[in-house]
Amino acid sequence: MVRAAKTAALAPLGGLLACTDDGSDASGTEAGTSDGSSSDGPGTSGSSGGGSGSGTSGSTGSSSATSESAGSTATSSPSSGSGSTETGGESGSESEDTGTAVCEPSPEDIEGPFYRPGIPVGGDLDVHGDPGVALRIEGVVQSEGCVPLANAIVEIWHATPVAPDAEPGDDDATYDSTDEYRYYGQVATDARGRYAFNTLRPGWYLNGPQYRPAHVHVKVWVRGVERLTSQLYFEGDPFNDGDAWFNPVMALDPDEAGLANIDFVV
Ligand SMILES: [Fe+2]
Repeated sequence: MVRAAKTAALAPLGGLLACTDDGSDASGTEAGTSDGSSSDGPGTSGSSGGGSGSGTSGSTGSSSATSESAGSTATSSPSSGSGSTETGGESGSESEDTGTAVCEPSPEDIEGPFYRPGIPVGGDLDVHGDPGVALRIEGVVQSEGCVPLANAIVEIWHATPVAPDAEPGDDDATYDSTDEYRYYGQVATDARGRYAFNTLRPGWYLNGPQYRPAHVHVKVWVRGVERLTSQLYFEGDPFNDGDAWFNPVMALDPDEAGLANIDFVV
């Protein structure tokens, strides 16, 4: 069953932002460490090959963020950006008086300096033995007409996990800049537009003098074109208030097992 997308009640954030997201990890150069080329095709669904696309649809909201310049532009599409298709079938739950289903586009958010082209294929990011809090993020990618999109590519990346008993400031999180791409992953949506990631809840890191709330970065590509750059947050995080980018529309509310559900409308 396709759940209604979280409704975007706020305007996209991107063009409004002029702050930074440089974090405490000084390795903002990691954008230059990967080869920028396409990685292997999606491993989770049988997408067919197809055009790789240029991935240059400047749809991200990163343009005005002052320290986001390193690697902030959409460069190459994830490999697989292949033939995403509208699958038809189930539709969203909202409708206009015409009966046409409408799903609000997911709001944009800044890319930040730690995006790395060539994110490995795979949705299981909890493979490093780190202590942490289990987190499974799953949902559906769908069009504004509420049609599930098969073979769309969902990429996530986030900072190192927080230990279950950690308090803010105990151990600041960082982004991996090695070839291991820890806590970076991409999957293709299945025939019903579904995606899923298993990972660990990310920790907090300083952005200047202030901690950013825990967050997970996300991009969605359709047919090799970047369609969404955003961030996922967590309800109740002590740093949501006052964060320049926090958007409650994109806040996850994991259950006791760590399952959080969010759909993306692109
Ligand atoms: Fe970040």
